[in-house]
Amino acid sequence: MSFCTPKKDCSLCPRLVQFRKENQKKYPAYHNAPVEPFGSLDARILIVGMAPGLNGANQTNRPFTNDYAGDVLYPALKKYGFAKGIYDKQKDDGFELLDVRVTNAVRCVPPQNKVTGDEAKTCGRFLAEEIAAMPNLKIIVSLGTVSHNAVLRTLGYKQTDYKFTHGVVHRLPRHGILLLDSYHTSRYNINTGVLTDKMFDAIIQKLYRLLNGSD
Ligand code: URA
Repeated sequence: MSFCTPKKDCSLCPRLVQFRKENQKKYPAYHNAPVEPFGSLDARILIVGMAPGLNGANQTNRPFTNDYAGDVLYPALKKYGFAKGIYDKQKDDGFELLDVRVTNAVRCVPPQNKVTGDEAKTCGRFLAEEIAAMPNLKIIVSLGTVSHNAVLRTLGYKQTDYKFTHGVVHRLPRHGILLLDSYHTSRYNINTGVLTDKMFDAIIQKLYRLLNGSD
């Protein structure tokens, strides 16, 4: 177990435990356990996804790695200097995040790629621990509503006061941090045009400007 990660045999969410057991039989070479966050706790930026993909992060034990959503996320981070090296869809590809940490609201892969409200609530304790352990944190980027709601709940803000809106920056006054919302970089969102590469590029550009005081 690493800090801010549930133990390998975490039993907090019965449905996810059951799915893990099925996957351990079906895909014995996969990680099939809570996925560890990627990047340093000293980072100023935390990007929060929803949950590992079955054949992606659940296989590789690195968020968004070998997931379609990572093919959108990681090149955009690299373009703005938030990553270096070659993203090659595996934990040992040498790809490095710079001033960024990437994590998930729910650490275990869910069936049909959908998490329940209870699972997001239960797993929130690890997100809370993670946020509290980031002394330099300035900006959280939420990819999608599950992440947005998990961040607000974890930090004790009301969802009704902070509506998820793509591209909007919310100020979280008690913590002195910003929350930047983006549609999730999922295959579904890209294929349906909810999110385009250009739109996501604009989000990471905004992140760059916010961090560098030019926005
Ligand atoms: N992979 C992850 O690790 N998280 C997501 O939200 C999607 C894919």
